[in-house]
Amino acid sequence: MSSNSLPLHYSGKYQGSFAYLTIKDRLPVILVKVVDSLCRDKAAIGNLHGELAKEEVKEIIGRLSCLQNEMVTNKLIKPLSCISEDTESWNNYLKKQEETCDYAPAWFDSPWLYVECYLYRRMKEAFELSSVLKDYDYFRKQKEEAFLQSMDAVVLLCSELNQTVSSIQKSNENELYNYFRHYLEISLWGNKWDLSISAGKESVQQPNPLNQLKEWRRDILVNHTETVWQILQEAKSTTKEVQIDFILDNAAFELFCDFCFLHFLDSCGIVNKVRLHVKRMPWFVSDTLYSDIKWFLEILSQSSQENLAKFGKEWTNKFFTKQWTIENNTFWTLPHDYSEMLDEDSKLYQSLSKSDLLIFKGDLNYRKLTGDRQWSETTPFLTALNGFFPTSLVSLRAVKADVIVGLEPGTSDNLSKLCEDWKFTGKYAVIQCHKCTN
Ligand code: F6P
Ligand code: MG
Repeated sequence: MSSNSLPLHYSGKYQGSFAYLTIKDRLPVILVKVVDSLCRDKAAIGNLHGELAKEEVKEIIGRLSCLQNEMVTNKLIKPLSCISEDTESWNNYLKKQEETCDYAPAWFDSPWLYVECYLYRRMKEAFELSSVLKDYDYFRKQKEEAFLQSMDAVVLLCSELNQTVSSIQKSNENELYNYFRHYLEISLWGNKWDLSISAGKESVQQPNPLNQLKEWRRDILVNHTETVWQILQEAKSTTKEVQIDFILDNAAFELFCDFCFLHFLDSCGIVNKVRLHVKRMPWFVSDTLYSDIKWFLEILSQSSQENLAKFGKEWTNKFFTKQWTIENNTFWTLPHDYSEMLDEDSKLYQSLSKSDLLIFKGDLNYRKLTGDRQWSETTPFLTALNGFFPTSLVSLRAVKADVIVGLEPGTSDNLSKLCEDWKFTGKYAVIQCHKCTN
């Protein structure tokens, strides 16, 4: 336990841990891939952004190489030097670490959640310090290729969604619930594939992921689907307009799965307004940016496949009519866990608290919900949220890191006997909910 009686953070200081191996092996690979792609694309970048960009690419590569060196040799964490709206928050966070920890904050010695976020922030800084390449998305190609390679699965899902929508009208309550569970699970398992767990290797969808859904249900270790349904039904019966906030994770196929779920919720009138939350800068390789949604909608709308084009246009229209909106709050790319949101960004906290349900996608969001601390696996979810409950919330997460709470006694031990690495493969998942009672 730490001094304020919360469990300690996961950290790279535990040799052989997933955090340690991530900082030692996986993060350097992600960095090197960006450097390689810059070297490879230098001429093309020059053609697109002008001669100066070529010079800047060299400087950026230099900065990224220094960053890699700092990380692998366990140097001290440095303050950010760019002038940006989040610089102060980051540098204050570092100061707080220096004041409150009994060690000097260094890459392997600090909380893993902090240093991993810090790496992505420093990568952005390497570009921000240039002039023409400030907004260059160095993960864009990987995200776009991953989506294009998943087209077979996308086509199948679109045709299924089309059929579902046409049968919603004549469905009874039970059938509707089954559809709900189905699309919720599609959105959940979309999180199995992200590009940072594979250190940026392609993540191509199986041609028909729908075949596996039933089989995978067994691997949902905590399944609060019924409670989520209840929350939405209650909201529908008491509010004129049901609003949810969807804190997105990865672009490409996962984003597509999320849109299918949202489309279902919209088509059966369970939800009226959706606020989508995206990242403000390239983040954990595959996380969704505003520009990824824009690209994705264009690709779908212009598709020669009738269904794809239809959904692409309908979804684009949802944004025109402001039924669906996009926000890219700075808080999502700060190092803080969500129990710190009220202090750090009370405006965001208050705004989320007006929603009927918050849906948090993915592994990193789960780590931030639970503070990425070494909770015992049977700790109640509410305890691990550590005071973060602006309103009802659910986490849809394929398990890809150590922290997990809310399990029945014995579950974790049994899984460890089956597979030592069960927490890191994405095979298991949770649909974990906290329902607000007031
Ligand atoms: O690199 C560590 C990590 O946080 C893993 O926990 C996870 O695999 C990945 O990064 C991010 O996953 P997600 O996209 O689901 O948040
Ligand atoms: Mg992600």
